[in-house]
Amino acid sequence: MEIWERLAAHHAAHPGRDIAALFDDAERAADFTVADGDMLFDYSKTAIDRTAREMLLELAEGAGVADRRAAMFSGARINETENRAVLHTALRNPDWSLELDGADVMPDVRDTLARMERFAGDLRAGRFKGAGGRITDVINIGIGGSDLGPAMAVAALAPFHDGPRVHFVSNVDGAHLHDVVAGLDPATTLVIVCSKTFTTIETMTNARSARAWMTGGVRDPEVQFAAVSSAVERTSAFGIDPGRVFGFADWVGGRYSVWGPVGLALMIAIGPKRFRAFLAGGAAMDAHFRTAPLRANMPVMLALVGIWHNQVAGHATRAVLPYDQRLARLPDYLQQLEMESNGKRVAMDGTELAQPSGPVVWGAPGTNGQHAFYQLLHQGTQIVPCEFLVAAEGHEPALVHHHELLLANCLAQSEALMQGRSLEAARAMMAEAGLEGAELERQAGHRVFPGNRPSTTLLYPALTPEMLGRIIALYEHRVFVEGVILGINSFDQWGVELGKELAGQLLPAVEGGAAPAGVSPSTRRLLSRVIGLRG
Ligand code: F6P
Repeated sequence: MEIWERLAAHHAAHPGRDIAALFDDAERAADFTVADGDMLFDYSKTAIDRTAREMLLELAEGAGVADRRAAMFSGARINETENRAVLHTALRNPDWSLELDGADVMPDVRDTLARMERFAGDLRAGRFKGAGGRITDVINIGIGGSDLGPAMAVAALAPFHDGPRVHFVSNVDGAHLHDVVAGLDPATTLVIVCSKTFTTIETMTNARSARAWMTGGVRDPEVQFAAVSSAVERTSAFGIDPGRVFGFADWVGGRYSVWGPVGLALMIAIGPKRFRAFLAGGAAMDAHFRTAPLRANMPVMLALVGIWHNQVAGHATRAVLPYDQRLARLPDYLQQLEMESNGKRVAMDGTELAQPSGPVVWGAPGTNGQHAFYQLLHQGTQIVPCEFLVAAEGHEPALVHHHELLLANCLAQSEALMQGRSLEAARAMMAEAGLEGAELERQAGHRVFPGNRPSTTLLYPALTPEMLGRIIALYEHRVFVEGVILGINSFDQWGVELGKELAGQLLPAVEGGAAPAGVSPSTRRLLSRVIGLRG
């Protein structure tokens, strides 16, 4: 029997598998975990048993995860639909030597990193000045991978900020730029235009408007612009001095790019030394991913748990629940990383996928989410596998009790999801509260928690630059492994193109022109309503 069928049969053979009962195996709590140094991934509160785990490992082996991993790290063109290598890992391993098409790519990586460090150092020390003197604020203008990585990481590492304030503008909605620049002085602001292609309509529109804003207060606004792109020739057309342009190669995918020049805003916020620690964290996870046996390999096991929940058990979504306020943007970041990478309908060879593609990823930080959507997680009729993340220590020594509460809540939630509360326990509660008869029965039903809901927990000592690097690289490799198992090219994103093309065609109509041929009656009507409302 084929491995997917065996997995499905094993899952079907244990309908409603009682997760709590799996702990009759006294070794389970220790054995269903993966450690990488001081980081622990616990997947014991899932319905994966030893047999399922062996099958999942067989699936990973059969899919050639080890060979694909070697191919990726060696610079093979595994992004076949764009004919590109996938080497974001080189950015966080600057001491490597790596040949691509007969040339070592690493001297360029090191050179750009050194230039970024000099620029960030000059800016932070006040040696690089704006028209009004020392730069106090930096705006990163970018979208998708040119925004989510640095924005998430800057928020995550707030305790380490000791540079200018860093802001992010991504949305083409003018409200975003307007609200960000509202409190800023153009004379002491630096704008980084961050775009791999330097053609993205949102970013270029925001960049031009930011330049117009700066022109209002600065005689020579271009001086206060820097650019990050892999299309460096386009940055000079925008008027940005090549000395402030930081390039990167096409083998760095947008959503994997925070490790290089796209991380410039982060480097400015936390300083080059801590940025190096962030890179070292990513590199440490690379080393673990490359060398640990599959069953002790954290990205591999995280991926296999994901495959079990989505493709085998049929749970269509996955909640990412960081009990770490500073990781509030992690779910957004992972949405792009996971859904743009593995939200595909065909396999590498162009044939339809045999299994569902990657899941819908969503979430919010705890404990906020508890007061919003956890009701559904506990008592809704659909099951959402939950991925908790939590640090043993916070960064606020004066608020230790807050962190203890945070930890207690995180542990309580995974426990509650698994244990639930039986009807008998609910009845006893109601009886205790003085209810009886039909009213007791009616009220008790509302207080039942079915339990048996799977979750995993990623536990780490504290959210430092190095730890953040490890966490991001962990998720990157998880996406890679899931993609290999599903046969997906995780490194292209053709699915974003059609909407962009249609927006270009509809713009003239929004501006008052005729609707393009072929547009549906619904959109045609909405357009005329828009025109009417706008007068
Ligand atoms: O929306 C698609 C996308 O190409 C993402 O993959 C990318 O991160 C984003 O747009 C921004 O692209 P760029 O960095 O080229 O402006």
